[in-house]
Amino acid sequence: MSDATSIKSIMSENRKFPPPPAFAAAAHIKSLDEYEAQYRRSIEDPDGFWAEVASDFHFFRKWDRVLEWNLPDAKWFVGGQTNVSYNCLDLQIERGRGDHTAILWEGEPCDATGKPTEIRRLTYRQLLDEVCRFANVLRNLGVGKGDRVTLYMPMIPELAVAMLACARIGAPHSVIFGGFTAQAIADRVIDAQSKVVVTCDGGWRRGQIVPLKANVDEATKLTDLIKTVVVFKRCGNDVAMKSGRDVWWHDLMRDVSHECRAEPLDSEHMLYLLYTSGSTGKPKGIQHTTAGYMVFTAYSAKLIFDLRPDDVFWCSADIGWVTGHSYVVYGILQNGVTTVMYEGAPNHPAWDRFWRIIERHRVTKFYTAPTAIRAFMKQGRQFPDACNLSSLKLLGTVGEPINPEAWMWYHEVIGRKSCPIVDTWWQTETGGILITPLPGVTATKPGSATRPFFGVEAAIMSKDGTVQPANSGGYLAIRKPWPAMLRGVYGDRPRYERQYWSEIPGVYFTGDSARRDEDGYFWIMGRVDDVIKVAGHRLGTAEIESALVSHPRVAEAAVVGFPDELTGEAIAAFVTLRTGNAADDGVKGELMTHVAKQIGAIARPKQIRFTESLPKTRSGKIMRRLLRELATKGSVEGDTTTLEDFSVIARLREDEA
Ligand code: WTA
Repeated sequence: MSDATSIKSIMSENRKFPPPPAFAAAAHIKSLDEYEAQYRRSIEDPDGFWAEVASDFHFFRKWDRVLEWNLPDAKWFVGGQTNVSYNCLDLQIERGRGDHTAILWEGEPCDATGKPTEIRRLTYRQLLDEVCRFANVLRNLGVGKGDRVTLYMPMIPELAVAMLACARIGAPHSVIFGGFTAQAIADRVIDAQSKVVVTCDGGWRRGQIVPLKANVDEATKLTDLIKTVVVFKRCGNDVAMKSGRDVWWHDLMRDVSHECRAEPLDSEHMLYLLYTSGSTGKPKGIQHTTAGYMVFTAYSAKLIFDLRPDDVFWCSADIGWVTGHSYVVYGILQNGVTTVMYEGAPNHPAWDRFWRIIERHRVTKFYTAPTAIRAFMKQGRQFPDACNLSSLKLLGTVGEPINPEAWMWYHEVIGRKSCPIVDTWWQTETGGILITPLPGVTATKPGSATRPFFGVEAAIMSKDGTVQPANSGGYLAIRKPWPAMLRGVYGDRPRYERQYWSEIPGVYFTGDSARRDEDGYFWIMGRVDDVIKVAGHRLGTAEIESALVSHPRVAEAAVVGFPDELTGEAIAAFVTLRTGNAADDGVKGELMTHVAKQIGAIARPKQIRFTESLPKTRSGKIMRRLLRELATKGSVEGDTTTLEDFSVIARLREDEA
């Protein structure tokens, strides 16, 4: 890992966009003074601050202490008992939102005129009914408090139903992104020791059926842990149902009770596991718990998206990623507003699909990834221009740095220069947004996530913990615990300590490099570890490498990210073949398909280069930095003194020429 002093920012962006005055006048937080006073209080008196915020939520038993902090372990709202499903549903109904639409869903398929053939609306009351029934189904299957349930489903309301049902009975869920395939499912099931999997026959994506159940069947060949597979019928495609193991969702839901009391759960009871990529091949089960996550996601959503009762909020992220957990489901439903879910691809049946959804449902707040914005930009403004986007009041981005050009396009073409943009920085581990503009307060600068949210003390540091001066690059670190922070890596305490709390002793290490400008605005520069962000999706180099090495022709492989205009980063693989294999395009294609099949299409390398050996240090560590330079610039200028065999780089360079 490079030293902080070698992290240089090349971006200089001086435009500034104050919040639209009308927006600011009506916002929850209206002025910079208000933000600053409240921010100061949240840092100086976190207990008082968060106790006040949490008083707006339902606790079956009130907490005794707000925070117990024994580095690196935080416990929030200690001694309290609550339930996230209760706060998302029952509490909203008590507050008079029972007949309001909770989930507004569009399926992907369209008729010949381009109109969607399936739109569903579930009110808060209807959603509660579904959730209670499915919670009873889970109980009847023997799922108890603390048992991990795997959810491998497309973007349909039943995924949210299953999550909330798990939360209701205290069974942590582990959602696996529907774009992953058998090996990824098996790895996660094994790590979580999860015996029940909930899936669908299939899901629609770009007019094709993704064979979810068949992928689960493949996964069951890799582990015999899975005792029950619940299958929701979505597409009607043929699936094999193994008797004694596979059961239909609709059969189980038929005769089950509609009543299911939300279980009072300790504040620190595990709400979910979400697997994410880190720097080893084994995905990490990031652990989130109940009360802190609940309070932080709801409160951050309310202020950052400035939520109002009539909002139709659309976060286009898949629920398979943390953004979907926090800002499609938990943070949004707790505000009693409508959350939009869309099943399919942004370009099906045409590139105007997202804008049509916004127009059709009068979406007021829209939250998406820079990759999507760049893809839309490339297609041209005729698609959004043909739609009525006047319902939009606020735009958001998340998942990767947004380049100023894409920011400006979003601002002008989608926001018609009248919507504040919130560029929100956070991670699977942080549970919720930590660095962000507040839409009624912050003058935004294209490309900057601006300033920390309440309770978040962020800093740019060098490896020894020294805070860097303005405009010097360094590591982004968080100095105080916050309510939605991860509570651990499932089953791997050393990894939790090593990865997050030891790189810079005593503070939370994000793995991102960044700088802070003279106004105190944060500019995220990218990852400093072996995580690649392809289209905002987080992938670990080691996982892709082990997929490559599992191919019989491959002896060794190293994977790095390189900049890509559309997806932010793309994957380059350097591969050494076993002797006797020709390094040709046929093999390249074979390896690309192999990775896509093993992990999922998003992990498919864009470039594969064959090499006789990989550049390694004398201690045998692959020098990814050199490979990154090669993949990015086609040459290596950095320090190569620790390289074991200089000729490797020379040969790689020749191959490139
Ligand atoms: C990156 C996604 C720049 C960052 C919620 C982080 C961002 C990683 C931003 C976490 C942003 C996220 N600007 N970079 N606004 N938001 N990132 O776990 O590198 O999928 O560490 O969580 O995404 O990715 P993850």
